[in-house]
Parts: sequence; structure tokens; C-alpha cells
Amino acid sequence: MRQQEWKTETAGNARAPKVVNLEAVEGIEEKRWLTPDAELNRVLGGGIVAGSLVLVGGEPGIGKSTLFLQNALSLSNIKTLYISGEESEQQIKMRADRLRIRNDQFYLLTETSTQVIFQEIKKLEPQLVIIDSIQTLQSPLIESAPGSVSQIRETTAEMQRFAKETNTPVFLIGHITKDGVIAGPKILEHMVDTVLQFEGDQHYAYRILRTIKNRFGSTSELGIYEMTGQGLRQVSNPSEILISQREDMLSGVAIAATIEGLRPMLVEVQALVTQSVYGTPQRTATGFDLRRLQLLLAVLEKRGGFHFGVKDVFLNIAGGLRVEDPSIDLAVLCALLSSYEDAGIPHKYCFAGEVGLSGEVRAVNRIEQRIAEAEKLGFEKIFISKYHKKGLDFSKFNIEVVPLGRVEEVYRLLF
Ligand code: TYD
Ligand code: MG
Repeated sequence: MRQQEWKTETAGNARAPKVVNLEAVEGIEEKRWLTPDAELNRVLGGGIVAGSLVLVGGEPGIGKSTLFLQNALSLSNIKTLYISGEESEQQIKMRADRLRIRNDQFYLLTETSTQVIFQEIKKLEPQLVIIDSIQTLQSPLIESAPGSVSQIRETTAEMQRFAKETNTPVFLIGHITKDGVIAGPKILEHMVDTVLQFEGDQHYAYRILRTIKNRFGSTSELGIYEMTGQGLRQVSNPSEILISQREDMLSGVAIAATIEGLRPMLVEVQALVTQSVYGTPQRTATGFDLRRLQLLLAVLEKRGGFHFGVKDVFLNIAGGLRVEDPSIDLAVLCALLSSYEDAGIPHKYCFAGEVGLSGEVRAVNRIEQRIAEAEKLGFEKIFISKYHKKGLDFSKFNIEVVPLGRVEEVYRLLF
């Protein structure tokens, strides 16, 4: 019985299954559009891919609508349809006026029913569709309320079908809550080609657009923006904003030469180590993994005999950035030691090394690129691991390169 059903199904299938040699399959090149926004191009892996479905998540108020309105308005030769279920035409017009970009190929639809949306799409035939937000969409095929798991799943599936059938790229904006556990976007990450996250601290002007998943490129890319009175500004030289510009030596500050995606970035690490007043010492980390901080403290306690166990420790990455590159370890450790000793580190020094459990300073990837960036920004010394592969020639740099084997050595050199 089962087999018969199966047979009829295959018989009705126009394209009979057939084993092919992979070499014989003709490759198709992805068609991409470069947008005027270099940061967006970067996180997408080199521009917008035709027929791709991209989910952009972020907390309410972070600037998702601004980013995509701005981008859609700047694509001057592409007919774009911006569908908003959140704001009125007047509100969007006001925002567009604030951004001061005009575009006669930009169309707006304030609607939530996918049935109506597809009717309008059929008439307009846009080349790019932006949905703000996926949580407001409603499919007539599903009874539950907009924003519910089944609605989000169905409306995303409809958008996916549309994107693939017509080869039109579609961006879905989705809200996520503070802790990232959402009754929405998370469940549909596997349905889309690319997932971007727009993040930042509400108190800082800087915003990071991060690639979480990308079928068409790397996932370690970052785009950096600054929210201004006239929309988002691309930040093409992030090091300049991530290091506070001052000449004096403050204790608890160390600069890390990190790489995010393909880009080297110098980032300021700030630590505050104080005597604990309560029984259990406090540990807080902003922009850095708390467990990683605890591990580095344990290394210092065990290998260096420092008594962090009776101290409160606060760690912060300047600019509201979250750093995942393990090469930041050495700078974190030096910032902690600097605050512990209440002795500043010269502001022309920077660090790039991962710290192992036994206190060894480990090699990190693309060290030459990091050194070059530090040199370009006028640093005088960079502390790195001595375990980088043989044959690297650091003599070509004007910056002094200090190789380290263990964390004790950096302590002796600095304090
Ligand atoms: P918005 O794009 O509405 O956020 P989201 O869609 O993620 O909820 O942006 C919200 C904030 O950005 C709001 O507080 C106002 C601010 N903003 C600026 O600072 N400058 C601008 O030019 C614009 C358009 C918005
Ligand atoms: Mg919005």
C-alpha cells in the first residue's frame, strides 16, 4: 500500500530522479547587487544575492527600520517595496525626510495580510522587498494571531517561496528581546539563507550588524555604524572610535589588536579591580564572555599568585562592542593586572594573544595583519605570542614586536 502511494507520487513528478556526476552539473553564479552601504555588503558576503531570504533580528528601538529604510532609499536603480505593518505612511515619510534621501523607485505599503501583499507585489513587480516586521504579518491560511509561532512560520514560508520563484531578494525584519530568546525569529533561522543581527547598547551611538548565518559567505563579519541625527553613518575605520583618544596613562586600560571577520580592529579593554566588601566577590563583564573572564582570573590566581578571590572585578569593552576573537585574552589579562597594581600601561602599547589554562600565551591567526594595523595607528609596541610559526618576518615593521611565552613575562615587562 505504502509503496504504491510512493510510486504514483514519483510517476506524477515531471523530473524523474537520476544520479548525476557532480562535475557534470552546471554551476550558476550568484547574482549580487552591491549597495552603497559597504558595511551591509560586507555582512552579506559581498552584496545582496538575487532570490535570497534574509532575516534581520534586533531589539526594538535599535535602528532596524532606519537601517533598511535608508538602504532601500539609497538603491537608486532598484524598484523597492517596503512593507510596514508597524508604522503609518506619514511616520515613514517623516523618517525618510530626516534621512534626506529621495528615490522615485521606492514604494511603500502599510499592510499585514500576506494575501493583499502578494496581490500588490504582483502589480508592482518590485526587484527588492523589505518586510517590517515579520511579527506583524498575517496569512489567511492560519487562524492564530500575528506574531504567533505558526503565523511566523507560515508567512516566512510564503516569503521564501516568493523569493525563490521570482528570484527577488526579501529582507525580513524581526524583533528579538533582550536575552535573545524570542518567540519568533529564532525558530525560523533555518528557513532563511542569511541571518543578521543588529545590536548595540542603547546608551552608545554605535551599532553592530553581525552575520549569524550565511549561506553565501562567512559568518564572522561585522558591520559598524553610528546612529546620528540623520540616520546611520557607516564607520569604516572602527579602531578610531573604539580607542579613547587620550595621552595619559590610566590604570586598568589595555588595547587589544583583534580581528573581526576580515577586519583588524584595535579595541580598548577596561578593568576595575577593587576590594570586595561582601562575602562573594562580584564579577561583571560587558562585551566579553563572563566565563572566559573567570577562567583568566583563575589563571592569574594559580600561575601568578594574585589574590583576585577577594576582589570585585568589572570588565568592559569600550564602545559597547562585543568581542569574540580569543586574541583579546592577553589585553584583558593586562587590564586586570594594571587595575590590580593600580599602574597604567603606556597608551602606545597593544596586545594580541590567547591565554591558555597553564598561563601560556598562544599564537593567534593573521598576526601580521594585526601588527600592521597597530603600526598604522601609531602604536609603538605590540605584545604577541612567541609561538607563531617560523619564518614570519617582523623586522619589516617599524613597530616593536615583543614575543611572550608566558603571562608572567608580560607582568615583569609592564609593572
Ligand atoms: P528604529 O529604526 O525605529 O528602530 P527599530 O526599527 O529597530 O525599532 O530607530 C529607533 C531609534 O533611532 C529612535 O530612538 C530614533 C533613532 N533615530 C536617530 O537617532 N536618528 C535618525 O536619523 C533616525 C531615523 C532614528
Ligand atoms: Mg522598526
